[in-house]
Amino acid sequence: MENRIKFKDESWDFRNDFTKYSNHGFHTYPAMMIPQVARRLIQMYGKDKEVLLDPFMGSGTALLEAKLHKNFKKAYGIDINPLALLISKVKTTPINPEILKEEYNQLISRCNTDKKAVNFREKEIKKPDFYNLEFWFKPEVIIDLAIIKESINRIEDKDIKDFFLVVFSETVRNVSNTRNGEYKLYRMNRSMMDKHKPNTFEVFKGKASKNIVGMEEYFKIYNPKCQVNILAEDTRNLTSIPTNSVDLIVTSPPYGDSRTTVAYGQFSRLGLQWLDYGKDEVSNIDKVSLGGIPTKDLHNWLDSPTLKKTLDEISKIDTCRAKDVLSFYVDFNKCVRELHRVTKKGAFMCLVVGNRTVKGVQIPTDEIILELFQSKNHYKHHNTFIRNIPHKRMPKLNSPTNIVGNHAVTMNEEWIVIIEKQ
Ligand SMILES: C[S@@+](CC[C@H](N)C(=O)[O-])C[C@H]1O[C@@H](n2cnc3c(N)ncnc32)[C@H](O)[C@@H]1O
Repeated sequence: MENRIKFKDESWDFRNDFTKYSNHGFHTYPAMMIPQVARRLIQMYGKDKEVLLDPFMGSGTALLEAKLHKNFKKAYGIDINPLALLISKVKTTPINPEILKEEYNQLISRCNTDKKAVNFREKEIKKPDFYNLEFWFKPEVIIDLAIIKESINRIEDKDIKDFFLVVFSETVRNVSNTRNGEYKLYRMNRSMMDKHKPNTFEVFKGKASKNIVGMEEYFKIYNPKCQVNILAEDTRNLTSIPTNSVDLIVTSPPYGDSRTTVAYGQFSRLGLQWLDYGKDEVSNIDKVSLGGIPTKDLHNWLDSPTLKKTLDEISKIDTCRAKDVLSFYVDFNKCVRELHRVTKKGAFMCLVVGNRTVKGVQIPTDEIILELFQSKNHYKHHNTFIRNIPHKRMPKLNSPTNIVGNHAVTMNEEWIVIIEKQ
């Protein structure tokens, strides 16, 4: 008989759906969950539930969906990346769009005045002070970004200021000399650089107008009873979430260690540097991500036969890569302990994972995480839905060979694992 617990289900692909409705399009982020997946998981497993957690929140897709759903009273999100914290806060914080429009007009008028003053050398603009600024940005772009930033900093209301800082961070990405479509920082080649003449003000204005339209939609439909708590914490550790308090988890953990999968730190670096985050804060992101520090040996206590078998296969080809893989699961197992602590009995956990391939060996993360959850505690496995990742949204993973554009690892599918704490 066919095993109907784990199966391919194309109804999870949402191939032609618009994914940027409401505030979902505020800022790009690597390996975003699509809102339709979060929404459907919430509808299927969140009936009568009140407290949602996304322990790897990223840009806050699941939190925003919780705010758009009627029954949630609380939504927690955890991330170690300050950019993720800022984007998620802004996406879930309602702001009256009329006030936003007024602030926007004033902001642009200040920018125009300052630009003229700078052109006539009546005003000097303070540029940020970080390593390689001129390598990543053209001189005229640096001036325009500095003008916009100074104007945003004059906004008094913190929520409105943060709203425009998110627009600003996305603008920084678009006008920088980095190649499009790479999560790692790669500079454009000479011919691309020659053609690259961004109009920084227009990019900022276009993005701001779009986000204001998103906020207009959100302001009409959000659930004011749902309180959002964004936590700058580490899911591997004891968090500030009370024991037995969460009744639904919707999340997409990283695909693996950030050295060889998605480099969240590199993706966020330029934006964060422009936003004056400290050097250490910015450079530590990838180190504190799951699997950020490679394990020294392959000996481990993890209770997953599938992981053991997979590591044996990889280590026959490359022991170092097997250690990279292991380091991720050692950290993931720490998160399992914390997620077990914070959830109530009867809580559903919906985990969207990628089964990446290392040295030609596919790693069945969906099986491994299930074994880790079930090793010490009682969890019922309800389903694993396998969805296609539509091509346009396919994550471009880092090349372990470090050759620009050589994405040795590509993924076409995701596994949505549903378990219930008994
Ligand atoms: C796949 S992304 C999540 C994307 C998110 N679902 C979205 O729609 O934007 C995984 C996230 O896990 C975060 N992360 C990595 N290690 C973490 C840790 N130890 N604790 C909390 N978050 C972590 C990364 O910074 C990243 O933002």
